[in-house]
Amino acid sequence: MTTFSTRRCGPIVTDITIPGDKSISHRSAMFASLAEGRSTITGFLESEDCLSTVNAMRSLGARIEHTGKGTFVIDGCGGKFTAPTGDVDCGNSGTTMRLISGILAAQPFRSRLIGDASLSKRPMGRVINPLTEMGGHFTSEGDQPGRPPLVIDGGSLQPISYEMPVASAQVKSAILLAGLSATGETSVIEPAACRDHTERMLQEFGVALDLGVADANGRRHIAVKGPQTLKARDFAVPGDISSAAFWLVAAAAKKGSDTTIESVGLNPTRTGIISVLQRMGAKIEITPVDEKAAEPLGKVRVLGGPLQGTVIEGAEIPNVIDELPILAVAGALAQGKTIIKDAKELRVKETDRIAAVAGNLRLMGAIVTETEDGMIIEGGHPLHGATLQCFGDHRIAMAFAIAGLFADGETVIENVECVATSYPTFGATLASILTPQPGHVIAIDGPAASGKSSVSKGLAAALGYTFISSGHFYRALAWGILRDGLAQPLSTDTVNAWVKDRHLQLQDSRLLLDGDDATPYLSSADVAAMVSPIAAFPSVRDLVNSNLRALAETTNLVMEGRDIGSVVFPETPYKFYLDASPEERARRRAKEGTVDSVAERDRLDSTRATAPLKIPEGATVIDTTHLNLEQVIQAVLSHLKPRLLAD
Ligand code: DC
Repeated sequence: MTTFSTRRCGPIVTDITIPGDKSISHRSAMFASLAEGRSTITGFLESEDCLSTVNAMRSLGARIEHTGKGTFVIDGCGGKFTAPTGDVDCGNSGTTMRLISGILAAQPFRSRLIGDASLSKRPMGRVINPLTEMGGHFTSEGDQPGRPPLVIDGGSLQPISYEMPVASAQVKSAILLAGLSATGETSVIEPAACRDHTERMLQEFGVALDLGVADANGRRHIAVKGPQTLKARDFAVPGDISSAAFWLVAAAAKKGSDTTIESVGLNPTRTGIISVLQRMGAKIEITPVDEKAAEPLGKVRVLGGPLQGTVIEGAEIPNVIDELPILAVAGALAQGKTIIKDAKELRVKETDRIAAVAGNLRLMGAIVTETEDGMIIEGGHPLHGATLQCFGDHRIAMAFAIAGLFADGETVIENVECVATSYPTFGATLASILTPQPGHVIAIDGPAASGKSSVSKGLAAALGYTFISSGHFYRALAWGILRDGLAQPLSTDTVNAWVKDRHLQLQDSRLLLDGDDATPYLSSADVAAMVSPIAAFPSVRDLVNSNLRALAETTNLVMEGRDIGSVVFPETPYKFYLDASPEERARRRAKEGTVDSVAERDRLDSTRATAPLKIPEGATVIDTTHLNLEQVIQAVLSHLKPRLLAD
C-alpha cells in the first residue's frame, strides 16, 4: 500500500513545476488520432488516465509513438478508425469513455468500452442518450442501466440540437465529436459555461465551429457542421491548473509562503479556483505568457496570508468542479463559514466527493455539515492529524495531503496509488516541501531595551518567520544556575562542569532546561542579575549557540540578541543593529515594569572577552530613539523585502 504521510510545514517558499493539463492531454491524443497527418504533442500528462486514452486510440488504429518525456508523435487516421480486436480499456477515466463514445458512435463497426471497478459505477446515460438520438446504438452491460461496459454499434449519424440538462464539458464534447461525422448542423446548448477545451482545440485542428454568444445566464449554442476532418497540428499542452490548485491553496493559506508555479493553463473556464481564492483574500499575481495560444498560459505567484470563508455556488460550480475538494480544505483553514452548493455532480465523481471530503475533514477536527448538493464548513477550527482513506479518488488523496500540512501531528492517507491517474509526481513535490530547507536568518542585535524584542516579534509575524530570543536561552541557563545552587562567585571550572550536562529545548514557545519549564522565571530580577555574568563564559555561549544554529536548519528565523550577526550567524546577509539613547532605553525598561539594571548589563555585555556586544560587520544600524515600533518594523522591512524576495 502506498501512503502519503504529512505534517505541519513552514512557509512554502519555492517554485513548483506542474504536469500537463489532464483534460487537454486527453483531447490532444484523441484529436491528433482523428486528424489527417502527423502531429507532435508536447507537455502531455503521462498519467494513467491520459495513457488510457493513448492506448484506446492505438487500439483503434492510430499510430502513436512516445518519443520523449511528455512527447508523442501521432499519425492520425483522418477520421476513419479500424475496428478494435479486443475491448477498448478506458481504465479509471470517465473522460476517455465519454469522449470516445462520441467518436465511436460514428464509426461503422462494433466496439466494447470497459473500465475499472470505479469507472464501471459511473453514469454514462448522459452521453448515451444524445448519441442514441443521433443514431448510435448503445448497449450498457453494467450492473445498473447506463453503466459500463458499453457496447457501441456505430454507423451514420443524424445531426441534432441538444439542450444539456446540466453543463457538462464531456457531454458537449461527445456530441460535437459525433457531429463532425453527421451530415448537417449539430448543436449543443449549454445551460452555463463549462470547459471549452474541445471547442478551442477542434478549431486549432482546423475545424470550423459556431461558438454562438452566451446570454446573460451563460446559456450558449455551440454548433458544428458535418462532415469535417481534423488537420494534424503540433500542440503544446499547458500545465494543469487543477494540479496547481493543491499548491495554490497550500501557499495561499500558509503565512509567509511565496510560491510560483510556471506555465499554468489559464483557460477562463478553468480559472475559477483563482477567483474563489482571491475572494477568500488570497494574494495571487498572474503574469500571462501566451494569451493568443489556443489555450492561454501564464505564471502564477501566490503569497500566503489569512483566508476568509466564502460561498461557492451556481454558475461558478462547473468552473471549479475538480477543485472543490481542495477548496473545501481551504474553507476549513479560513476564518468564518464556507458554503458549497449546487454541486450535486460531486456525488458521482471517482467517489462521492461530498461524503468523502466532509467525512475526512471531520476526522481532522473540522466542523462540517454535509448537504445534498454540497457542504457547509465552519472554518478556523484547528486541524489534527488523522489516518484517512481516499476511496480510490486522486483528488481526495491530494486535498488531504495538503490539509495535513496545516494539522498538528501526522496525517496519513492510505492507498494513494490512484494519484497516478492525474498527477504522478505529486508525492515527489510534497516530499520536497516537507523536507526541511535551511531557513533565512534575520539577525537583530543591539543593547538591552533598544526595542529588539518587540521589533523582532513584529517582523516575524509580518514575514511568517519564527521569532527567537537568544537572551531567553541565556536566561534559562541563569535560572538553572540558581535552581542548582552553584557556589558563588562562579568559577570557570564549576560552570564548565555544570554546562556539560545541561539540555536546552525549545518546545513551541516554551523553553525547557533538562525537561523543566524555565519560561515563567525568565524575567525575574534574580535571573536578570545572573544572566550577563554567566553569558561571559565561553562554555555557556557554545551550548546556546549550538541550539540557536540547529533552529535555522529547518525554518526561517528572526533572531534577536547581542551577537547573532557577529558570531552565531555571521554568514547571514540580513543583519540589523538597533540602538537608542541610554535615557530612552532606561525609560522603556521602566515602562515595562521590569526590575533591571540596563546600564550594568550593557557594560558587562560590551566589555566581555567572548562575543562582546558590537555592531556586526555589514549590519544596517537603526536608531530607534525617536521611532515607534511600527516605524522601526517598516524601516527593517524596507531594507529587507527587495533582498529577501530576490533570494
Ligand atoms: O535580550 P535579553 O535582555 O533577554 O538578554 C539577556 C542577557 O543575555 C544579555 O544581557 C546578555 C545575554 N545575551 C548574550 O550575551 N548574547 C545574546 N545573543 C543574547 C543575550
